[in-house]
Amino acid sequence: EKGSYRHFMEKEVHEQPESTQRTLTAYLDPVTGGVRADIKAGVDFSTVSRLQIIACGTAYYAGSIARYAFEKLAGLPVDVEVASEFRYRSPAMMPGVLAVAVSQSGETADTLAALRWCQSQGLKTAAVVNVHTSTMAREADLLWPTHAGPEIGVASTKAFTAQLSALLSLAVTAAAQRGRINAAEEGRLAQVLLGAPGLIAEALGMDGDIVRITNDLSKARDVIYLGRGETYPLALEGALKLKEISYIHAEGYAAGELKHGPIALIDENTPVVVIAPDDELFEKTASNVQEVAARGGRVIMITNAPQKVPTLSGDAAKSLKVIQAPDCDPFIAALVYSVPIQLLAYHTAVHKGTDVDQPRNLAKSVTVE
Ligand code: M6R
Repeated sequence: EKGSYRHFMEKEVHEQPESTQRTLTAYLDPVTGGVRADIKAGVDFSTVSRLQIIACGTAYYAGSIARYAFEKLAGLPVDVEVASEFRYRSPAMMPGVLAVAVSQSGETADTLAALRWCQSQGLKTAAVVNVHTSTMAREADLLWPTHAGPEIGVASTKAFTAQLSALLSLAVTAAAQRGRINAAEEGRLAQVLLGAPGLIAEALGMDGDIVRITNDLSKARDVIYLGRGETYPLALEGALKLKEISYIHAEGYAAGELKHGPIALIDENTPVVVIAPDDELFEKTASNVQEVAARGGRVIMITNAPQKVPTLSGDAAKSLKVIQAPDCDPFIAALVYSVPIQLLAYHTAVHKGTDVDQPRNLAKSVTVE
């Protein structure tokens, strides 16, 4: 039931403080302040040589974000690939690879086929799935559940942040098991993660600011999303969300790739959404904002550091929109900034009057190739 919400998607976006909390506490113990003993008992990341993450769509972007954490924190090499490519590519696998399928439904045909292929190669497999009775949940050697609850909207929202919650908790597990962090650091990272639901609740308060810019955004033909580091895959996810429900053409790019081609697209009709948490890459992203503005681009900057946004002049200054996000540790920035990205797509679609929960041509679960 939708309750007082207009769409299931809106309801599901607003459920995220609870759905991330449920997922995080299944992996992390708020009392002892570390990874739960049963999670540690189920896997030994010190024996894993590489993670091969396979997924489709939004689940692929969750895996792509998690890669940064597994590599940075745990020193564990990670490959992430869309299942429809991976399964037909005859990939060369090394011993010790742990294949991780990420899927809300646990039934996506390409992801399932990729998982089965990995098993046929003798690899150990794990599945991060939201439907705990699904085929992937049954067939993988290891089940890492997400606890988003049933997701009705075709556009994935709370399943995505639940996937991030589980995967980031597993990255902390891997870092601990591989001796990269001590117990105190494990506890600190667990506390940072357990603080995410509160920050997600705060991020939902950005709703009003976002509604105010969607009138403008809904008139665009093309929208560009930029991010760096963990927010690069989030930019891809933001573009996918906008495409899916508002039918506006959108592309995400790594901010550093802008000058290698996409900057040719910039003009006064192309809004550029910049996802820029205040982290060690902020200044670099800010300089991309200046490049866009200098070419007449209309920038929408989502950041917790509005005071650091470069001063622009003339028309660029007039068209710049800064949307303030809550302060957060860079480790959970992608989780927290998921919310404004979802709200931006949602309100733009509502403004256009599209069928938000059942967008044209899309199915909730893609069980055919
Ligand atoms: O059930 P899955 O997570 O395996 O589904 C994967 C994709 O089909 C799914 O994420 C799709 O991209 C959504 N429509 C995104 O909003």
